[in-house]
Amino acid sequence: MATRHFLTLLDLSPDESRYLIQRAISIKNSLRAQGPTYTPFANRTLAMIFEKSSTRTRVSFETAMAQFGGHALFLSPRDTQLGRGEPIGDTARVLSEMVDIVMIRTFSHQGIEEYAAASQAPVINALTDDYHPCQLLADVMTWTERRGSVRGRTAVWIGDGNNMCHSWINAARQFDFQLRVVCPEGYEPRADILDAAGERVTIHRDPMSAVEGADLVTTDVWASMGQEEEQASREADFAGFQVSESMLDRAAEDVLFLHCLPAHRGEEISETLLDDPRAAVWQEAGNRLHAQKALIEFLLLGRVAE
Ligand code: CP
Ligand code: NVA
Repeated sequence: MATRHFLTLLDLSPDESRYLIQRAISIKNSLRAQGPTYTPFANRTLAMIFEKSSTRTRVSFETAMAQFGGHALFLSPRDTQLGRGEPIGDTARVLSEMVDIVMIRTFSHQGIEEYAAASQAPVINALTDDYHPCQLLADVMTWTERRGSVRGRTAVWIGDGNNMCHSWINAARQFDFQLRVVCPEGYEPRADILDAAGERVTIHRDPMSAVEGADLVTTDVWASMGQEEEQASREADFAGFQVSESMLDRAAEDVLFLHCLPAHRGEEISETLLDDPRAAVWQEAGNRLHAQKALIEFLLLGRVAE
């Protein structure tokens, strides 16, 4: 059977995506009720290749493997042969001989596709310049836990048409909700990703009017990893795009606010927004653990009957 990878949300069917969200909620509830007694990954190893910084992703994957009875291996280009030019495909073949599953955080999405093409072990995208699908599993899980089915709801993305925005667009397709993307001119999401989503995703310019009646509002940093030198010009270009409590007041009464974190208070969000009762960002961050457990379980074992 061909190895299944998770490079974007579209690598799963909509049905599989919904299964993963429900399974993640169930795994979380069992952990709360019984502690880490479910250990399906005894003697299994996850290799984690990080070419960019991380707090949440590293801790959640490593803890997921530990709680499931397996092991996680942190690999950085600074101290592996990847940083000295060993070809990606060769590394993929070597790791396939030793580990059960691989997680990669890197710059080029093409690079992770190249790795996956040569890997016998399932490969998980833990963020590329183009996508961050693991974050969306945790985000949709959080939205579902707080508000029930997301189908037919309306989310608003405010800010850069970046990797997180692209994954929100794919999530709108997979989970069948409406998405309004509000961005300054020149910062739109990629046209092919947008076009493939059809009418359920629309582009807007004015955040205050775009949030009217929204069920969920979300944003991200204005300068992503690798764009540090554009920080000042982006701060100027994104003036007026800060998400604030008064902006959320225009949305639905029970609107939820999400942010993948890390956040820059005073830039893309107001100083106090994360303390607002409408923000669910700590639960969202914690859900990375449960969502990725469900994902690893699915890629290694398939669907699990409960
Ligand atoms: N949200 C997220 O991926 O956080 P880290 O960069 O800390 O992993
Ligand atoms: N867009 C951000 C997300 C960080 C989790 C980045 O790529 O840096």
